[in-house]
Amino acid sequence: MSGYGAGGNGRLKGKVAIVTGGASGIGESVAHLFADHGARMVVIVDIQDDLGNKVAESIGAHRCTFIHCDVSDENQVKTTVESTVQKFGQLDVMFSNAGILSCSEQTQTVLDLDISGFDRLFAINVRGMALCVKHAARAMVEGRVRGSIVCTAGVKASCGGKVCTDYVMSKHAVLGLVRSASVQLGTYGIRVNSVSPSMVPTPMTCHALGMEVEDVEKVSQMLAHLKGVALKPRHVADAVLFLASDDSDFISGVDLAVDGGYIVS
Ligand SMILES: NC(=O)c1ccc[n+]([C@@H]2O[C@H](COP(=O)([O-])OP(=O)(O)OC[C@H]3O[C@@H](n4cnc5c(N)ncnc54)[C@H](O)[C@@H]3O)[C@@H](O)[C@H]2O)c1
Repeated sequence: MSGYGAGGNGRLKGKVAIVTGGASGIGESVAHLFADHGARMVVIVDIQDDLGNKVAESIGAHRCTFIHCDVSDENQVKTTVESTVQKFGQLDVMFSNAGILSCSEQTQTVLDLDISGFDRLFAINVRGMALCVKHAARAMVEGRVRGSIVCTAGVKASCGGKVCTDYVMSKHAVLGLVRSASVQLGTYGIRVNSVSPSMVPTPMTCHALGMEVEDVEKVSQMLAHLKGVALKPRHVADAVLFLASDDSDFISGVDLAVDGGYIVS
């Protein structure tokens, strides 16, 4: 059973969706919400096999499946998209979300940028994002599907940072990808947008900050101008659902901040 029960109102009824990084955090929450909203099949793509399979099982084999795929590898991404189309008929939604934050980030300025770490992070956060958009778009064009592609950027896509230089750079690149792809794919009726959360308590942030979920929530609340609400993966999932569904069918090229007003100050 999905963690959200059967309360969805079918905003993705009959659609086939891929969720990268769906084994954990924001992606896991999105996989549940997509299934609750009537997606015919949610394909979770991740490199964490045990967690990915567990999430898929909790949603149910009739509505969700797991595929091991490293998004930085073009052959794996291509095969994943092709097998999704082969098994489930088409691809309507790509949520390209998989990303990493390197462990040295909390002290990393440009002065001590580690280039091998930089390359690894870019391989996932930038190349992986581009590959998922590329192969999803190809499948949509070939299948004549007016699909929706949503990428996860972040507030760090729009401002500089005191640390996390390569991460900040990678998220700026995601916005460039989304804007270009939305211009290029509009002619096929394909929409491309992104979501930009501020600090969400997920395994990624807890691990990077060495904090428990509750402590990350407190930091996140301090950063947000909007008080009285703690940012959770579910808030990001709601924004992704909006962009993935026909509710946003004239919206493309947009970066939707989910940050309690953080970025506008
Ligand atoms: N948590 C935040 O505060 C925050 C804020 C802004 C943006 N984001 C972005 O949200 C996205 C999801 O992050 P999260 O916080 O849910 O983290 P998370 O670590 O909980 O989830 C990320 C998932 O991506 C998967 N992944 C990593 N490398 C992969 C690869 N090469 N191929 C396939 N899957 C891979 C991981 O296994 C993991 O399951 C990331 O792009 C991140 O940069 C997070």
